[in-house]
Amino acid sequence: MCAGCSSGFPVIGEIPWLFPEPRQALSEWRGRLSLLTQHLASESKAMRASLERGDIGQSTRRRLEHVARAHDDQISRLSTLLAPLGLDEAGIAEATHRGLGTRLPTEQGLTNYYVNLHRDWSWGADENEASLGELRKLLGDLAGLGRTLVQGAGAGRLAYDLHAVGDAPLTVATDFNPLLLFAARELYAGRAVELYEFPIAPRSIEDHAVLRRLSAPAPARDGLALVAADALQPPFADGGFDTVVTPWFIDIIGEPFDRVAARVNLLLKPGGRWINFGSLAFARAAHAERVSLEEVAELLPRSGFADFRTHEASMPYMRSPASRHARVENTVAWVTNKVGEPAEIPRARVLPDWLVQPDKPVPRTPALEMQAISSRVHAFLLALINGERSMRDMARILVEQRLMQPAEAEHAVRMFLARLQEESETQ
Ligand SMILES: C[S@@+](CC[C@H](N)C(=O)[O-])C[C@H]1O[C@@H](n2cnc3c(N)ncnc32)[C@H](O)[C@@H]1O
Repeated sequence: MCAGCSSGFPVIGEIPWLFPEPRQALSEWRGRLSLLTQHLASESKAMRASLERGDIGQSTRRRLEHVARAHDDQISRLSTLLAPLGLDEAGIAEATHRGLGTRLPTEQGLTNYYVNLHRDWSWGADENEASLGELRKLLGDLAGLGRTLVQGAGAGRLAYDLHAVGDAPLTVATDFNPLLLFAARELYAGRAVELYEFPIAPRSIEDHAVLRRLSAPAPARDGLALVAADALQPPFADGGFDTVVTPWFIDIIGEPFDRVAARVNLLLKPGGRWINFGSLAFARAAHAERVSLEEVAELLPRSGFADFRTHEASMPYMRSPASRHARVENTVAWVTNKVGEPAEIPRARVLPDWLVQPDKPVPRTPALEMQAISSRVHAFLLALINGERSMRDMARILVEQRLMQPAEAEHAVRMFLARLQEESETQ
């Protein structure tokens, strides 16, 4: 319970669930689990349907049978691991999610950083050691981190390693993805987890779906805690930590660098340290926000940091032995000290009233108006597909309905149908 506002926060699967709207977050993640299992089941069904075709070679048959079986097995493994979320039996159907635009959000799907789980706890010993090694080169010594917060800890290996080799009395690993958190909980407790890896470029038929046994070298030392939270609305008191670590995190969080820096500052005690590690891949941000290392150095003092030291390296990254795909990343690690307050205090993202209160009228903004019109056109065109009409028939109806000029209608219908066809063929 929050003493200030009497709000209750559940503990789910033994992990404190410290989202500002815990029930909302629970229902969103539960929905994503239901989508993921539906997706795995429909993939398996599609593979089994291809098996019915007579023209399939023996090896292809073997691969489809292997991967379909793995999908079915993965469903029950995920359902067990994520059981604390509570499975939504009457979950929203995939088609409805597509319509609502809530189907597997690209940024927040359960399996977004799924390969990290396998790298952290199965085949990634070299990469995990290299990451820790970079922080050693930067800091010299991994002792004396004090109370440490690892933001966007993912599957949790770096937090585990830092806690194991250092002397921190408390290391809090936080993330918002319950699949990664629940797996990390098992591994920190010294229990193994078995899940499939589905590599991007499998080397062989068996490599299309590899049942991996994930485990930690030893149960975690006391004081390593997992917390489910949104880093943009962190549930920690200001000045609560001696060290904040952000591994492979600041460029995916979707906030401008100075705000991320200011948020980290608030979490630190005076004199506390911010350790950052990973890439600076801001390619999808607004142009002014695609900062490089020189700009980071310039921005940090404005966010209350000084004594900026960096260490750069070239490192192997996500080199699964089952995949032909592998990366080398040019990483940067830095450490900087909190010497003052940030120039601007970042606020939590404030949602409009109509999105928080179910009985408030939803305003018809120009963006929503545009969306409504395009959805109506979309629905109208889809409704024309009845198994009998040709492209030309549909174009004629669009012209009769005065939705398009004769010169453009046929081409537009073709483009629309081509896109539908393409979408139905890609996964
Ligand atoms: C690129 S991964 C890095 C994971 C881990 N640090 C590592 O190095 O393997 C980014 C992580 O940040 C998490 N994340 C992204 N946005 C978040 C947010 N708003 N709050 C909490 N975690 C977030 C993701 O779930 C993911 O685990």
